[in-house]
Amino acid sequence: MHTYFILKFAYMTKHIYIRSPDDFHHHLRDGEALNHLVPIVSSTFRRVIVMPNLNPPVTSVTQALEYRQRILNATPVGRDFCPLMTLYFTNKTSIEDIIAAKASGIIYGVKLYPAGATTNSDSGVTSMASIEPVLSAMEDAKLPLLIHGEVTDSDVDIFDREIVFIERVLKPLVLQHPHLKIVLEHITTKNAVDFIQTCTNADGTPNLNVAATITAHHLLYNRNHLLCSGLHPHMYCLPVLKRESHRLALLAAATSGDPHFFLGTDSAPHSIAQKECSVGCAGIFTGHAAIELYAEAFDSIGRIDALSDFVGVFGQQFYNLPPNEGIVELVREDWAVPDSYYIGKNCHVRPLRAGDVIRWKRLP
Ligand code: DOR
Ligand code: ZN
Repeated sequence: MHTYFILKFAYMTKHIYIRSPDDFHHHLRDGEALNHLVPIVSSTFRRVIVMPNLNPPVTSVTQALEYRQRILNATPVGRDFCPLMTLYFTNKTSIEDIIAAKASGIIYGVKLYPAGATTNSDSGVTSMASIEPVLSAMEDAKLPLLIHGEVTDSDVDIFDREIVFIERVLKPLVLQHPHLKIVLEHITTKNAVDFIQTCTNADGTPNLNVAATITAHHLLYNRNHLLCSGLHPHMYCLPVLKRESHRLALLAAATSGDPHFFLGTDSAPHSIAQKECSVGCAGIFTGHAAIELYAEAFDSIGRIDALSDFVGVFGQQFYNLPPNEGIVELVREDWAVPDSYYIGKNCHVRPLRAGDVIRWKRLP
């Protein structure tokens, strides 16, 4: 009876106040698209970890500084927006690059894409063994390693790529570098949740340096939404959506209050033309309504109370950032998502839920 009352009360909640959020995984792109995307994203997030998979990738502090300036130039006047830059790990990344990144004060992590894993990952790392000394330098510098956790071997089924990565690459990596701060990005499986929750060092003590980001789309959708009743290209991302039992495990982890799970949207816009074609790009654009989508996911299991820490406390703790001062008000109220957003050069991007409603709304 008591539990029923609490659940019902949570369900009835109409207004909530959350800490002003940050996004710990975002693709802002470059060029004209940047000028359209930064105003959208900066209206929700005060800080974002900016992914470096441009073409060519951001591999040096100089490139990161220049990219950061382009982002600031695209920020609406008077808006308090802070891009947190990352470097792209290649086979050529050196110990000197790590020392320079740490000294720069503007680099918050180095992103590891296994070569060929996803959009603009061709310059990614081809052998983990060869980057060992650089990983040790990151461990010493306390510079986080941000991982796209999928193997790319053609004989591994695409739905198993994250699970195989954890077994073959991540488990040995964590044992070898127990002090390396690691974010397993955009996790999609129960196996990843279990790995983060039970991560231990060689001596059996808990390893608290390994965390994970979770996207709104992986909390809200499963692979049926991609593949049933026709093929839905705007639901295609990497790692690909998984079966329902995995989605439920992610939702349980995100709402568990475990600080090792926090917000990373992986908002990844591609033009409609790049999505609706014979070989479509991977990526889902959620930057237009990220917090509202997370609110919907948390509310779907009556845990809207867990949202504030997930968006405004846990990631900040991991990255040693103070939480934002501001408070954001959300209300449970339907609003219609536009069919598309213009991102320049006659290009539009189709947002998640295009032409449909989202059940939570952020008040200005
Ligand atoms: O779906 C994705 N899109 N996954 C990634 O890892 C990269 C991203 C992009 O850059 O488009
Ligand atoms: Zn990404």
